[in-house]
Amino acid sequence: MKVLVTGGAGFIGSAVVRYLVGLGHEVLTFDKLTYAGNLASLAPVWEEPRHSFQQADICDGPAVRQALEAFQPDLIMHLAAESHVDRSIDGPGTFIATNVMGTYTLLQETLRYYGALPAARQERFRFHHVSTDEVFGSLGPEGLFREDTPYQPNSPYSATKAASDHLVRAWHHTYGLPAVMSNCSNNYGPYHYPEKLIPLVILNALEGAPLPIYGTGENVRDWLFVEDHAEALVLIATAGRPGESYNVGGASEQRNIDVVKAICTVLDDLVPDAGIGAREGLIRYVADRPGHDARYAIDFAKLNGELGWRPRENFESGLEKTVRWYLANRAWWEPLRAGYHGERLGLTNGGAAAGAAQALGNAS
Ligand code: NAD
Ligand code: DAU
Repeated sequence: MKVLVTGGAGFIGSAVVRYLVGLGHEVLTFDKLTYAGNLASLAPVWEEPRHSFQQADICDGPAVRQALEAFQPDLIMHLAAESHVDRSIDGPGTFIATNVMGTYTLLQETLRYYGALPAARQERFRFHHVSTDEVFGSLGPEGLFREDTPYQPNSPYSATKAASDHLVRAWHHTYGLPAVMSNCSNNYGPYHYPEKLIPLVILNALEGAPLPIYGTGENVRDWLFVEDHAEALVLIATAGRPGESYNVGGASEQRNIDVVKAICTVLDDLVPDAGIGAREGLIRYVADRPGHDARYAIDFAKLNGELGWRPRENFESGLEKTVRWYLANRAWWEPLRAGYHGERLGLTNGGAAAGAAQALGNAS
């Protein structure tokens, strides 16, 4: 297959690209290279003739059109997004621009491209939209998100992802675009930008720097190893039913405080440091995230029943692999840490400060 992957230089996108190229598919990575995009994450496939790269913005209709016409994909996997909840609190404008307007632009150009394909290629063509469990809102102590759970997004990030999900659904329903969707839980693993909880805590703990826990640390996330997710995504994109959405989860619910303590234990074991001592001593409770969702948990019975997928890693095995990867790949993360060193994000009233006009013009 020829697969165009938007956001293919990001954390999950690059795992998908590496996996697809490994399977023998021809892949075009289409990525704007924001702060979160990193060509070093594509190093394992960079020399492969089956992989090519185009730096471009999904909001740029002519660039999307040119890429589609030149590459002629059988499948588009759409992962490009602004993905960090705290940054969406500080500056929602870029989230509206990329996640909503960018998805709209990509859908319009895809529909145009799809409409011009011969019938046999239309039959095979798929558009896969990758989304998040955060669109479903926040759970209490019991229950799981299912595909039919009502949407209740709480952060600017999840509101824009919910909007993009609704657009994709409408383009399928109204225009017949053969689109599938997936909503997954928190990913972790190699090549994860160190602003998210797990890589941030690994690197801070390695240095002996404070480990910030928002609020009480009781919030629960379901952790999914990124390579398990990449496998699920390719299965959904190629064998999922158009018009359907599939939940993907890691079957690994953890309280944030337990995640941080687990990282401390692995690092104390692998890299004991007398100067730092037991790393749990670095934990600091800090001001909570505004609108912090209490718990996410996923029911992935539909994906398991229809397509036979389940995660290979459990949290313990996935976390150890992840920590070992960061220890072995300083050259990947050291330049990123030089640019962003874990300063607290998401405490400003960005929506009011930035002003609504910026969402449509100079988005921030
Ligand atoms: P990421 O932030 O690591 O990567 C996003 C990528 O998109 C980057 O390479 C960036 O350069 C690119 N990009 C951003 N704006 C763009 C634009 N306008 N045009 C083209 N490229 C652009 O994100 P991720 O964690 O890999 O997430 C990928 C997708 O999966 C996103 O849609 C996200 O909402 C979704 N998701 C992520 C998680 C998670 O735990 N990371 C969980 C559920 C869903
Ligand atoms: O659930 C899927 C979502 O998971 C994705 O859609 C998002 O793109 C992805 O960023 C992630 O969102 P979260 O907000 O859950 O991830 P984050 O790593 O930012 O935070 C995980 C939890 O840890 C959350 O409860 C907030 C908390 N946290 C986070 C940071 C960065 C801390 O306690 N301290 C921190 O320093």
